[in-house]
Parts: sequence; C-alpha cells; structure tokens
Amino acid sequence: MKRILIVGAGGQIGSELTVYLRKIYGGSNVVATDVRESKTLGEDGPFEVLNALDATNMASVVARHKVDTIFNLVALLSAVGERNPQMAWGVNMGALMNSLEVARQHHCALFTPSSIGAFGPTSPKDKTPQDTIMQPTTIYGVCKVTGEMLGNYYYHKYGVDTRSVRFPGIISNVTLPGGGTTDYAVEIYYEAVRKGRFTCPVPPDVYMDMIYMPDALRACVELMEADPTKLLHRNSFNLASMSFTPEIICAEIRKRMPDFTMDYDIDPVKKEIAESWPNSLDDSCAREEWGWRPEWDLSSMTDDMLEVIRRKEQTVEA
Ligand code: SER
Repeated sequence: MKRILIVGAGGQIGSELTVYLRKIYGGSNVVATDVRESKTLGEDGPFEVLNALDATNMASVVARHKVDTIFNLVALLSAVGERNPQMAWGVNMGALMNSLEVARQHHCALFTPSSIGAFGPTSPKDKTPQDTIMQPTTIYGVCKVTGEMLGNYYYHKYGVDTRSVRFPGIISNVTLPGGGTTDYAVEIYYEAVRKGRFTCPVPPDVYMDMIYMPDALRACVELMEADPTKLLHRNSFNLASMSFTPEIICAEIRKRMPDFTMDYDIDPVKKEIAESWPNSLDDSCAREEWGWRPEWDLSSMTDDMLEVIRRKEQTVEA
C-alpha cells in the first residue's frame, strides 16, 4: 500500500480511517473522496468529490493519483436499508462493482468491509464459525454476502487482491453511524454524557458483536499489509472483539455514572435484525492467518468513550 483511495471517506469508518492512514502512509498518499464536499477531509491530504456510482470518475481519480489500493466504504446500513431495499442494493452493489472493476483495470488491491450482518437466523448463534451457513434476512446482509462472493470471484478470475473483514458493530466518537442496528451502542454514550439517560431501541438481552474504532482501523491495515501467502481466506474474515447486550453496556456505564438510567422503546425492525444476527463470532482464522488480536474491551472502551465525548461536549459549550 503506497497510494490509497478511500471511497466514502465522509462516513463513520472513512472519517477516521483517512486520518489513520495519512499518519502511516503520508497525507499526500491518501486520497479521500466522498459524494459530499468536505473541508476536514482535505485538511491534511487530497480530497475530491466522487459519487461511487460514477465509474468513469472513479477510474479517472485512480489514474490521476496513481492509486494502488482502494478502500470502498460506501454502504447503506441495515435498518435504513429495510426502508428502501432497492436503493440499498443499487448503492451498496453499485459502489462495490465499480470498485472491483476499477481495481481490475488499474491493478489495485481492494478492501471492502463485510459485516456480522452477512449472517442470518439459520447461522450458528454462538462462536459463529468462519465458514458456515449464510442466509441473511436483510437487504444489507444480502449485499454483504454477494459482495464477499464477488470479491472472491475477482480474486480467482482476475487476480485482483481483494480482502475483507466481517466487522462487528463499530463504536466510535468522531462521526456517527447512520441507520444501523448496532448504532444504539454508540448513541448510549452520547446520551449518557448529554442527558444521563437513554431510550434503547434494541431489546435488553440481545447479544451482538461490537468493536472499538481503534481496533477496527488497525484491522484494516494489518489485513491489507498481511503476507498474501498466509491468507487461506480473503472475503471475508470473521472479526471479534467484544460481545454484549444493552443491559450489559448500561451496567458498564452505571459503574462510572451511578445515576445513569435506561428505558426501552423497541424498534420492531431493529429487534428482528438484531435477533437474526450472531451473538458472537469465532475469529480464529483472522488470528491464525494474519495475527488479529483486539486490544480494547468493554471496560477500557467505556472509559475512553465517556472521556472523549465529555471533552467534545465541553468544546461545543465553550
Ligand atoms: N453496524 C452495521 C449495522 O448495524 C452492521 O455492520 O447495520
């Protein structure tokens, strides 16, 4: 990885991955692009407006900047996808197909995230294996499974260096996720700091896998820098870090904020999706094939999230 293109850099992952990659590879070597204009993404490196559905423009950005690696981060998330499945398919698959084709034509490596959402109610719930039944019941998951297969297809058919991880819900404090089922685990921290209470849309006892953003960013780089001869899998690796329910994260916050309260207003769409996803993934293939090890757990993440969000809120007030 020397010259990198990020497609969808304005989103939850992209806004932090851009900064992270620029620190490692140099600001001018990481081209951030997004469908919307952005001042911050252009602060320490090149930024261009790019609609991921415009393959011609994507190819021209890749050629102009002599890109060798593409990160395609464009996706409508699970809950919002259910409101408009046709659009979710169009955006998620359109961005991926363009990225695959541009990567093939311009000899780039390609990273595209998959998700715990690639699994469904017929997958084993606990310690969900790397290779198992994948019959998702959301359009988001259908796109993810299809994307994984396309990634492997482009690798076998054309030799495109495609790699991917199945991300758990990502918890972060720079850019909010939008329309995901795991978003509650981000929102709870903001609401704890702002209001001391949170109304949770997901049932109290539903386990889902989660990961803190610093671990997620490190996973992207470690996988893309991994020795290809060691990779038995490519699209896509189970990734695990922590698994909890709304009740457990609430208790963790209460240890630090005893007055924090949580009630429930269950969103039926999110409930159904959350219940269809695994409780926890088995990430032993990622550990064996490229040395994956999470560094954050629920306790250290909660300390950090509360501290960072408190600081942010003070800056807003000041
Ligand atoms: N965070 C995503 C969602 O909830 C899952 O990958 O849709």
